[in-house]
Amino acid sequence: MSTTEAHTEVPVFDAAFVQDLHARYAEIRDATPVQRMATPHGLSVWVITRYDDVRAALADPRLCKEVTRIQEVIAANLLPDSGGREFEDSLASHMLNMDPPDHTRLRKLVVKAFTSRRVEALRPRVEQITERLLDDMAGQSEVDLLDSFAFPLPIQVISELLGVDESRRDAFRAWTNVLLDASDREEAAVAAAEMSQYLAELIEVKRREPGDDLLTALVDATEDQDRLSDKELIAMVFLLLVAGHETTVNLIANGVLHLLRNPEQWAALRADPELVTGAVEEMLRFDGPVMHGTFRFTAEPMTIGGVEIPAKQIVWVGLAAANRDPEQFPEPDRFDIGRDAHGHVAFGHGIHFCLGAQLARLEAHTALRGLVERFPNLAAAGPLDDVQWRFSTLIHGLRAFPVHPA
Ligand code: HEM
Repeated sequence: MSTTEAHTEVPVFDAAFVQDLHARYAEIRDATPVQRMATPHGLSVWVITRYDDVRAALADPRLCKEVTRIQEVIAANLLPDSGGREFEDSLASHMLNMDPPDHTRLRKLVVKAFTSRRVEALRPRVEQITERLLDDMAGQSEVDLLDSFAFPLPIQVISELLGVDESRRDAFRAWTNVLLDASDREEAAVAAAEMSQYLAELIEVKRREPGDDLLTALVDATEDQDRLSDKELIAMVFLLLVAGHETTVNLIANGVLHLLRNPEQWAALRADPELVTGAVEEMLRFDGPVMHGTFRFTAEPMTIGGVEIPAKQIVWVGLAAANRDPEQFPEPDRFDIGRDAHGHVAFGHGIHFCLGAQLARLEAHTALRGLVERFPNLAAAGPLDDVQWRFSTLIHGLRAFPVHPA
């Protein structure tokens, strides 16, 4: 019997799977180290869910991004709504889709610009934005936590970091939404073209009038006389903007959801806001906001968890599943801000480890601390058990989150 026949093909990434994400991943993790599955678009993927396999996979060079194969898959199926050729040729050719040596080269250049010092210098500004958003929420009987707080904070931070002017921020949110969620291929192609053009103009402006922002630093970044080409810059800025728009947002919202579902945890945080650091790590582990999984390709035949996988196959690395593996995290389905969540893989692992982790943590710590201090009696305005998740392979976030701030 071949490995293909050894496993039942079941749909994955359909709306029902995402709605019940952790339970479905748990079924797979308990049953088998590798589960062969089909996507709604008809692709076949090999899903891995156990912590040790996931960590090992992310550090294994035989599991690669292989950009040409990714482009074929994007074009064919995986992100069928992501804007066609325009998207594949420009925006999607960023370092997250690359292997060494291209990845190494690009990452080195961006790390030079996106320094720890630059992120730390943002702290007062992040605090200021947080305070202003909380001020706006005060006195309102009901707000959507996503629209009023969780979205605007990281969007404003990443836009300022990259020097995107205020008049274009709504357009950016619209383009990003279309590219990640849209079902209309033509609409996505238009968004990709408009976004590429705007990014090209932005880069041109920075060349003429350098500022004290990340984009200027990226334009200027050099290493052994190497620098980013215009095409690489556009793809890099696209990656940073999308990552900056769609990640911390859901970390804040998903985290607050679990704190409100577990009132004793909210009370503990309220009593001691210093617990915020551990709380954010637990929020990342328990219900990571982005990429409940990430994909890789087998560069050659290989064996994972005793299962043989042929070359050129798509492996879905289940980050959210690994973070709930009972072998690694005792009682994994218990949300506990006091636990040691160290070692979670919400930010990935290995050469593609999240470049924005420090920024995401800074934003989430500030946001959560501000929220619990300003609105200690924050309450959900809808049923906490019956929330709707967005349907996306990349993002694990709520569709809406109505709350009473006072
Ligand atoms: C990569 C998660 C926020 C920029 C990644 C990866 C994960 C991740 C899992 C690795 C994907 C893979 O291996 O295939 C998260 C989470 C975030 C977050 C959970 C928030 C809570 C951010 C922010 C930025 C950012 C705010 C930038 C402003 C990036 C970049 C990469 C990346 C540039 C690619 C790194 C590479 O290919 O070398 N992120 N991210 N992320 N992230 Fe994040």
